[in-house]
Amino acid sequence: MMAWRSDFLVFCMLMFFLVSTSSVVLGKPAVLNVKDYGAVADGKTDNSRAFLEAWEAACEQQGTSVITVPRGGKYYVRQVAFTGPCKGSITFLIQADLYAPTDKSSHTLTYWIKFGYVDYLTIAGLANLYGGGPSAWPYKGCGQGQECLQVVPHSLRLEFVNHAWVHHIGSIDAKDKHISIFQCQDVTLSDIRTTAPHDSPNTDGVHIAVSERVKILDSTFNTGDDCVAIFSGSKDVNISQSICGPGHGFSIGSMGKFPDEDPITKINIRNCTISHTDNGFRIKTWAVSSYPTFASDITVQDVMMDNVRNPIIIDQHYCPRGGCDPTVESQVQIKNLQIKRIWGTSTTETAVNLQCSSQKPCQGVELEDILLLFRNPEGGKLQPAVSSCAYVVGSSRGKQVPKPCI
Ligand SMILES: *[C@@H]1O[C@H](CO)[C@@H](O)[C@H](O)[C@H]1NC(C)=O
Ligand SMILES: *[C@@H]1O[C@H](CO)[C@@H](O)[C@H](O)[C@H]1NC(C)=O
Repeated sequence: MMAWRSDFLVFCMLMFFLVSTSSVVLGKPAVLNVKDYGAVADGKTDNSRAFLEAWEAACEQQGTSVITVPRGGKYYVRQVAFTGPCKGSITFLIQADLYAPTDKSSHTLTYWIKFGYVDYLTIAGLANLYGGGPSAWPYKGCGQGQECLQVVPHSLRLEFVNHAWVHHIGSIDAKDKHISIFQCQDVTLSDIRTTAPHDSPNTDGVHIAVSERVKILDSTFNTGDDCVAIFSGSKDVNISQSICGPGHGFSIGSMGKFPDEDPITKINIRNCTISHTDNGFRIKTWAVSSYPTFASDITVQDVMMDNVRNPIIIDQHYCPRGGCDPTVESQVQIKNLQIKRIWGTSTTETAVNLQCSSQKPCQGVELEDILLLFRNPEGGKLQPAVSSCAYVVGSSRGKQVPKPCI
């Protein structure tokens, strides 16, 4: 017994020695606290400079470094861009809430917090980013006699970032998009929560363009615009186990507005719940002066829709501000779209609405096991919904309510 104990003791000491020496060999992560760079958590000192200095120090480190915004207090940050390339990988641990500016001159900044040209980045920390949206939204109407803001900051922007993981971060009341991903590769967003009122303008949850291999999971989007919006040049984007609503649903496009737009391909939306939104899943392409490109290899499956205005919609005649020539047809080709195992309620009668282009009919559209009922917002019993198709080539299988139009 004794012998076993001392063996065990030796074993433990050996393990401790190995672990401690290996961490010396591999390098312990350098930990940089923003407070050591002059950050003050009083909610009014601008910490942009302090955060940036911590970043610059981290960026010079080989191996792994961790920047911490420690718990306690509120950090006001006016605007900051964390730019690489950096020598090692960086974890930005945000453990206290960050606050954006709300004065008028801040409304026309193009971003609030931006990471650019970085490889191997983690952003985490269980904190909220308060975007200050209510101060800017009233100016976004562009109504009569009103000042009109065209440019409004995205709260968290990643551009030219590869291998990033953003998790356990909340974004509250962004002035415009909550999170935008541009020209990135291999990005995972998990346990993200975005919150903004249902009528807040352009507050997309996640906005993805020209990016590849993006994964969004275990996240919740309550917002005023699209929960996730996927734009030109996006390839291999998976959304799963996420909740959307209020908001405008999961959206592809609009496409075809500009010449030489890259296609959107390999999009998978799986195991999601969409509740009290304008749209569930939507693809939209411009009606007017549309340029050719395509969207293909898209799967939407195992999605519950609860009180959604347009659960499944393809709109190839998108013309939000009017003045489009209805005889001009979209040049965007939609192909290989699978929609399966979708159930729930629609607040309009047309639950499946596929309006494709007469010039480029949708190809390879497959519907399988759909059960969508019409819940009239004015009351009454649940009724069968209907489907409507124009210029759709494809097939339907399994149980279908409403009756399929292909
Ligand atoms: C998305 O899902 C597909 C199908 O399961 C898989 O082949 C692909 O690698 C996934 N991509 C990402 C970025 O997770
Ligand atoms: C969807 O849910 C099923 C059943 O729980 C699970 O087996 C599958 O891995 C999930 N898929 C994704 C992409 O989350």
